[in-house]
Amino acid sequence: MTIENGRTRIAVYPGSFDPLTNGHVDIILRGARIFDKIVLALLVNVDKNPLFSLEERVEITRKVFQEYPNVEVDTFDGLLVDYAKRRDISVIVRGLRAISDFEYELQMALMNRRLSPETETVFMMPAEQYTYVSSRLVKEVFALGGSVSGLVPEVVEKRLKQKHQS
Ligand code: PNS
Repeated sequence: MTIENGRTRIAVYPGSFDPLTNGHVDIILRGARIFDKIVLALLVNVDKNPLFSLEERVEITRKVFQEYPNVEVDTFDGLLVDYAKRRDISVIVRGLRAISDFEYELQMALMNRRLSPETETVFMMPAEQYTYVSSRLVKEVFALGGSVSGLVPEVVEKRLKQKHQS
């Protein structure tokens, strides 16, 4: 799919992905159907004491999307809009699960628009079964011995178990 001027349509899907959930995967696959390419941009400095290091998050996401040639995994530091400009990307994709996401997402979208008016934020809704899934809850449930099966990709579940054992 290309736009009239022949340019490739690329979007960036930024986040901490600590860890990647099936809700994220759902949004990425929806994005991959709409855009020529979707770049998963992993935030380098996740300030909330990450469970997975940047290297682990990169490795996991690359593994999950290894069969999707139009899904790229990259990392970024600093302002998202600066990263997008450097990569010549003018669309930011974010997932909206529920009304509770809206205020935070609205603030970010409008701040990003103020910083870079030519960068547009596009929101996508995940499948209903993922509307309550968040990385934070996945970590909490897993740490307390609950099952996260079906909520995260298998490779994430495996890595969570390894972390728990070590
Ligand atoms: O997975 P998250 O924590 O919801 O993702 C938040 C993220 C990475 C999209 C946001 O924190 C971000 O863009 N950080 C980069 C710094 C930046 O550009 N801040 C201004 C955003 S308004």
